[in-house]
Amino acid sequence: MKIFLDTANIDDIRRGAAMGVVDGVTTNPTLVAREGVDYKARVLEICSVVDGPISAECISTELEALVSEARRVAAWHPNIAVKIPMTEVGLAAIKRVSAEGIRVNTTLIFSANQALLAAKAGAAFVSPFVGRLNDAGHDGMDVIREIVQVFDTYQLDCEVLAASIRGPRDVTEAALAGSHIATIPPAVLFQMVNHPLTDKGIEIFLADAKKYAPV
Ligand code: E4P
Repeated sequence: MKIFLDTANIDDIRRGAAMGVVDGVTTNPTLVAREGVDYKARVLEICSVVDGPISAECISTELEALVSEARRVAAWHPNIAVKIPMTEVGLAAIKRVSAEGIRVNTTLIFSANQALLAAKAGAAFVSPFVGRLNDAGHDGMDVIREIVQVFDTYQLDCEVLAASIRGPRDVTEAALAGSHIATIPPAVLFQMVNHPLTDKGIEIFLADAKKYAPV
């Protein structure tokens, strides 16, 4: 399963990238606003750090404006995937821009039916929001499993990108559910590295290594 970082914080992206396990990055208006930076400048900075799909969100709500915005944002860098929210207008825009070769990440997906429509329109990625589904009393991972099954059954060329991940266990569950990608907050990635038995094991090995001459 591919791992994307779900953040616009450049220091965290650099730290994650240095670990060698980051395949892409997702941003959204909330994440960029949190950083207090220019959207385009930050997205381009991210593109210079991570060589993989970098999602940048479109905010237009009318079809022609959304298509123009998607083309403009996609032209910023070859690695950009434009994020388009799941709406009727969004589907029409996905159909048009994906036919031009622009990669679309359909965002705010909360059901297998929405994912099916986005894939049929030509989206390269669908982003089901696991944490927000769980917050609303649903089982977010069930939705991931359903989408994976539908895409497999009909061999739809669209990657499932598990989003709104809240903890390390969500990443394991997404992998077990067959999600192609999980986009995760940096804190979750850094937590995934750790295990108390690893720390304890290193401590013991370092103590024992002092008992013989260094190689
Ligand atoms: C996905 O691309 C979104 O940016 C993100 O996962 C939303 O997660 P949240 O529910 O933590 O805001």
